[in-house]
Amino acid sequence: MAERAKQLAGIRGVVLDISGVLYDGGGDGGGVPIPGSREAVEKIKASGLKLRFCTNETQATRGKLVEKLQRLGFNISVNEVTAPAPAACRILKERNLRPHLLVHDDLVPEFDQLDKANPNCVVIGDAADNFSYKNLNEAFRVLIGLENPILISLGRGRYYKETDGLKLDVGVYMKALEYACDVQAEVVGKPAKMFFQSALAEMEVEPQQAIMIGDDIVNDVGGAQQCGMRALQVRTGKYRACDEQHPEVKADGYVNNLAEAVDIIVKQLHK
Ligand SMILES: *[C@@H]1O[C@H](CO)[C@@H](O)[C@H](O)[C@H]1NC(C)=O
Ligand SMILES: *[C@@H]1O[C@H](CO)[C@@H](O)[C@H](O)[C@H]1NC(C)=O
Ligand SMILES: *[C@@H]1O[C@H](CO)[C@@H](O)[C@H](O)[C@H]1NC(C)=O
Ligand SMILES: [Mg+2]
Repeated sequence: MAERAKQLAGIRGVVLDISGVLYDGGGDGGGVPIPGSREAVEKIKASGLKLRFCTNETQATRGKLVEKLQRLGFNISVNEVTAPAPAACRILKERNLRPHLLVHDDLVPEFDQLDKANPNCVVIGDAADNFSYKNLNEAFRVLIGLENPILISLGRGRYYKETDGLKLDVGVYMKALEYACDVQAEVVGKPAKMFFQSALAEMEVEPQQAIMIGDDIVNDVGGAQQCGMRALQVRTGKYRACDEQHPEVKADGYVNNLAEAVDIIVKQLHK
């Protein structure tokens, strides 16, 4: 571990994944904090390191996510969270796009600031029960009617697990619209480079000054490294022992949990 710590010199900003790093379990009511993670967040804040929470959650607004984390005892506010919907909003504004939304009802307020009349693109997120035939077909009709069809997808996951079992994720429905309209979606969310870059911009640090801590070897660790950041994998959440022998992605370090990661990073600051 000593050698590993040496590789962590020059860190100025920390990007934390949320699910599987701060807390375990999910779904509507659920979730328990991972031991030591609340204190670890405080420790980062007290150290003077910049901090962003980075999630690909696309079912609820950041407000709802933050409320849940606060209920679990975390000191976190909405403006500390990087999420796909606000990142997509920035892109839409830059490109003068007016979206037709196929997203969960709870996510709609994230797009309040945008003009949605006479849409010239479709934005799809994890709409869960709102993925009805009617809603999908409406999005399809908008997309196929465009001269230059633009489909923006908040994530591309296949499925995920909630307390009551596995659930189809947004990627499955994204593929359906791609197939129907013969287009390729632009994906916003981990592991897309653009997504990590927005977290870095918000912290005002360079990629080589930042470190990602996540439980997903491909989306968190691989995504951040692609962007020039360093990355640690925690052995909590969706971590599996075989991740440490992953054929393509090697983390800059493997730690038991967030508390251990933060100890190593903060110790390095005082060297
Ligand atoms: C919560 O975090 C903010 C910075 O994000 C910090 O200023 C404040 O002191 C923290 N509050 C507590 C109770 O630790
Ligand atoms: C989304 O689903 C909720 C719950 O089933 C429903 O009340 C709402 O009308 C749906 N919204 C849309 C736009 O389909
Ligand atoms: C979010 O990322 C996690 C991995 O960190 C993945 O399991 C999940 O399917 C993704 N969810 C969405 C909505 O993209
Ligand atoms: Mg995670």
